Amino acid sequence: MILKTLKRAACVFFVSFLFLILSAPVLFAQNPVANYDENAVPAFQLPDPLVLRGGGVVRDPSAWWGLRRPEILEIFENEMFGKTPVTKLPISFEITSLDKNALGGIATRKEVTAYFTADKSGPVMVILLYLPNKEKSKVPVFLAMNFKGIHTIHPDSNISITRSWLEIKQESLRKGNITVADSRGSASSRWPLEMIIHRGYGVATIYYEDIDPDFDDGFQNGIHPLFYKPGQTTPNANEWGSIGAWAWGYSRAMDYLETDSDIDSRRVALMGHSRLGKAALWAGAQDQRFAMVISNNSGCGGAALSKRAYGETIGSINRVFPHWFCDNFLKYGENEESLPFDQHMLLSLIAPRPLYVASAEEDLWADPQGEFLGALNASAVYKLLGTDGFQAELRPLPGKPVMSTIGYHIRPGKHDVTDFDWDCYLNFADKHLRK
Ligand code: GCU
Repeated sequence: MILKTLKRAACVFFVSFLFLILSAPVLFAQNPVANYDENAVPAFQLPDPLVLRGGGVVRDPSAWWGLRRPEILEIFENEMFGKTPVTKLPISFEITSLDKNALGGIATRKEVTAYFTADKSGPVMVILLYLPNKEKSKVPVFLAMNFKGIHTIHPDSNISITRSWLEIKQESLRKGNITVADSRGSASSRWPLEMIIHRGYGVATIYYEDIDPDFDDGFQNGIHPLFYKPGQTTPNANEWGSIGAWAWGYSRAMDYLETDSDIDSRRVALMGHSRLGKAALWAGAQDQRFAMVISNNSGCGGAALSKRAYGETIGSINRVFPHWFCDNFLKYGENEESLPFDQHMLLSLIAPRPLYVASAEEDLWADPQGEFLGALNASAVYKLLGTDGFQAELRPLPGKPVMSTIGYHIRPGKHDVTDFDWDCYLNFADKHLRK
């Protein structure tokens, strides 16, 4: 009996061992370990943003605007972020809260609710604005989405609690893991409102999950269903995912900013951190009303070159966040060499408007060197369009920003938004938006 059990155990052990040995290559291919070794970055050649698909060279701005730019935009629409629908929703904006004496009197706080349907049912987006009171003329504004609800960006107790945040956090709230009171101002280290207001700029922010909750539900919630054609239940392989939806939200906020007489909508700097930096780049690429775009630690799928496969790769981003991109993007996972484009081309779509890419030294997952090279390789397009492009050949030292039409810095520290980052963005905006 004992012998029989032992024999069976040995057999089970042997079969499991064999299974592990045989399946290791497959498991490894599905979940490769991130590469952080510069020497292990594969050799690659970047597609030239100034060479047409058919091989012709782009030699002047008119060939860029008429031929190459539309070509590149179409590649990103079809292969990466998915097409943004052109259908216009019957959107209305309503000022739902106003305080002319906010932040101790230095600012006016407004909350503007955007209703996406005529009967005001369905998702709504709330834009929280702080505008400097001391300015007599229309003010330039930083537009940036937030991760945790508008009430988290500052302890100001008059800010409404974000409704969609309440819905998404229901379970945790019930279990007492999060309290509404504790969440107020919890992200304020990333939003130095007083500093921005003192420098004469306004801030506009939206909770990103107002537009599309950030989980893979087959696009049944958020704004996607508002665009489905009869019978359609999910986006097609070349139609937008969540990043496309957030980018759309940035543009709808711009629709409002254009109507606000306190704001100079020709001087709106779009800023986004991390996944919201990816969305900001995509919004800035599609919507040329944004005068400036700032990518804070946007990493893979943002400013970092994918072909380097350093830190986060296309395979891993698609595995963990399958809803961020369009389905056509899946084929590039663990297959970066087959990409007919790379992220420098996304950045080139922002040209000649000032673009700032920021990295953090410890944020290796986002590949700081890849972000730097993304910016560097967009420079030729900026120069073709008559600007000074990116005035650096090597990555600058930490804490030493480059302020050409393409700006860049790497700062010490982690994946985050810090006062140093904001100080650089304010200096960059002073230089390029106050000319
Ligand atoms: C994850 C993800 C990144 C993303 C980041 C963020 O780390 O892998 O691609 O940028 O989340 O949005 O904070």
